[in-house]
Amino acid sequence: MKVLVTGGAGYIGSHTVVELLQAGHDVVVVDSLVNGHAEAIERVQDLTGRPVDLEVGDIRDRPFLDRVFAAHTPSAVVHFAGLKAVGESVENPLAYYDVSVGGSRVLLEAMDAAGCHKIIFSSSATVYGEPQYLPYDEQHPTNPVNPYGRTKMMVEQILGDWCAADPACRAISLRYFNPVGAHPSGRIGEDPQGIPNNLMPYIAQVAVGQRPALQIFEDDYEARDGTGERDYVHVVDLAKAHVAAIEALEKHAGHQVVNVGRGQGVTVLELVAAFEQASDTDIARLIAPRRAGDLPSFYANASQAKALVGWQAELGIAEMCRDTWNWQCRNPAGFGASQ
Ligand code: NAD
Ligand code: UFG
Repeated sequence: MKVLVTGGAGYIGSHTVVELLQAGHDVVVVDSLVNGHAEAIERVQDLTGRPVDLEVGDIRDRPFLDRVFAAHTPSAVVHFAGLKAVGESVENPLAYYDVSVGGSRVLLEAMDAAGCHKIIFSSSATVYGEPQYLPYDEQHPTNPVNPYGRTKMMVEQILGDWCAADPACRAISLRYFNPVGAHPSGRIGEDPQGIPNNLMPYIAQVAVGQRPALQIFEDDYEARDGTGERDYVHVVDLAKAHVAAIEALEKHAGHQVVNVGRGQGVTVLELVAAFEQASDTDIARLIAPRRAGDLPSFYANASQAKALVGWQAELGIAEMCRDTWNWQCRNPAGFGASQ
């Protein structure tokens, strides 16, 4: 199958391109490179020995998309392109509605015009909001608490309406829990700009000596050891979920939503300990005040992914830490410096 991957030069997108190529699909990437790297696509081609067409442009640019669809005639789309920082979405919500909601609408219009009817969408566990029960299953009410989460919810709703209007249209929204890790080759991984927002890249930068200490936001929650608990999923497992989802579109009509997690909560302290073991380093840490908007604990019921998509996670916390450490050591300046 020829698959168009929006945002394929980014973190999760580049890992998914590897898995799509290795499963025998052909890939064209559309990416504005606002947060992605052409170098990631070079490395994906090296890793797989397969060519990838990179079309640099914006998903909001309809004439550009029309040219790409006409040139490559993809039969399915995997849609990662979007902005992803929760705090930035609070400060600049219109940019998030423009890129993530507006961009997705333009993409679907271009798909309609080209007769391409299948899409996998990068959604997020953040659509659930404050847990009414755990683990979250897909029936859990949705109540996103920030503009980023609301854009994900809105795109899911648009996909539902798009599929309802035309029985040929099929979509799966994958609700990711906490993607971490890197390709085991150490050639591609997450390259956050500036100070990382997320726990795993922050730990990795402390381990390699780029930052003095990890701030643990709160150690006094009621659950477990008092630190925040999340459902981390290895980015290679997550990438494989997209390949499985594309294949599942053949069997499932309409719009489906599917959690992608391991179904296991891991605390900040547990992740730090696992990283210390994988890297043979000590992670300096200090306790800091709770971060605004943080939830104490959430994790997935991942049974729908197995039943509907035939996917389940295979890699554990030790592999996530090992592969993050390998990527960080080989690429201390991210894609900015070659190994
Ligand atoms: P990323 O920033 O590394 O990748 C996104 C890619 O989209 C980048 O390469 C960027 O250049 C591109 N892009 C952004 N705006 C674009 C536009 N208007 N037109 C074309 N390309 C554009 O992010 P990621 O971590 O790989 O996340 C991918 C998707 O998964 C995003 O939609 C994100 O919201 C979603 N998601 C990520 C996480 C996470 O923790 N990383 C969790 C849940 C959901
Ligand atoms: N944490 C720290 N110190 C840090 C960073 C994080 O203690 O420097 C803690 C947080 O308080 C939380 C846990 O580590 O308890 C995980 O934090 P992350 O920022 O890595 O992940 P979140 O679950 O807060 O956020 C992620 C994505 C969001 C998405 C959300 C829900 O980054 O985009 O999951 O899916 F909205």
